[in-house]
Amino acid sequence: MFFFISYFEQRTNENIASHAHTHVHTHTHTHTHIYTHTHTAHYPNGLNHKFIAWSKKELKSVFMGKGGRFEDPELRDIAKNKHKFVKTLGLIRGKRILDVGAGSGLMLPLLSKSVGNEGSVVAVDISSNFVDIMNDRIEEFGLKNTITLTCDETSIPIPDESFDMALLVDVYHHVTYPTQFMRSVYESLVSGGRLVILDFHRDTKRHYSHPGPWILEHVRADQKTFRNEIESCGFKYVCDILIEGLDENYVMVFEKP
Ligand SMILES: C[S@@+](CC[C@H](N)C(=O)[O-])C[C@H]1O[C@@H](n2cnc3c(N)ncnc32)[C@H](O)[C@@H]1O
Repeated sequence: MFFFISYFEQRTNENIASHAHTHVHTHTHTHTHIYTHTHTAHYPNGLNHKFIAWSKKELKSVFMGKGGRFEDPELRDIAKNKHKFVKTLGLIRGKRILDVGAGSGLMLPLLSKSVGNEGSVVAVDISSNFVDIMNDRIEEFGLKNTITLTCDETSIPIPDESFDMALLVDVYHHVTYPTQFMRSVYESLVSGGRLVILDFHRDTKRHYSHPGPWILEHVRADQKTFRNEIESCGFKYVCDILIEGLDENYVMVFEKP
């Protein structure tokens, strides 16, 4: 059964947050440790290699538009349900939003519209070609309240306390230095600011958009582990949000105290 939790209701659903995970990762880490899991047989150069190495043309043809892995609603639940997702963020009019690892900029037109003229959106990515692609999109859609920045894998080049909300949509499992990077996201938020994480359940039984054990190779740990890591950076867990149609994904909301 699915139900909807309004972002501002702040209700926790422990049943969802602590659901059973069959695959528990065994990696240990320190503050500066690079996750070796991101360099596996299938990803010898790390999970982010193609985002950084590929040309704009290659990124566009593989990830954008019809048949594009990021944007085709037939291939990706979040592409199909992006309106629902942004709606669950609640009243974001006038807010300053940081879209971390924004990729091709799937969410930008919607976020830009939702925050309105008094709000702003900053989209960051480690891929300068994705940032270029987003700049084209910003121009094409005339998004006057939206800008982009290229960041590196350890931090975001933004003054402290600049944002009301940070989003990581299908990004956290790509972050190579989670503790260091999430501390930087933490610093970028105002006190009371929110962090919203959408990621994949690491469970082959729940996963249908990629074949076989892909999810085990691609996503290094389960929701509980990610939640613990994020909490260890200072964030306070607020709630999970269930969104109908996003059956492979979970959405967790945190707050900077
Ligand atoms: C699976 S894509 C998701 C893109 C976009 N959020 C979406 O949902 O369409 C992951 C993105 O995260 C970016 N990325 C990975 N690590 C990052 C980091 N530490 N900081 C910012 N972006 C990062 C990648 O370059 C890539 O664009």
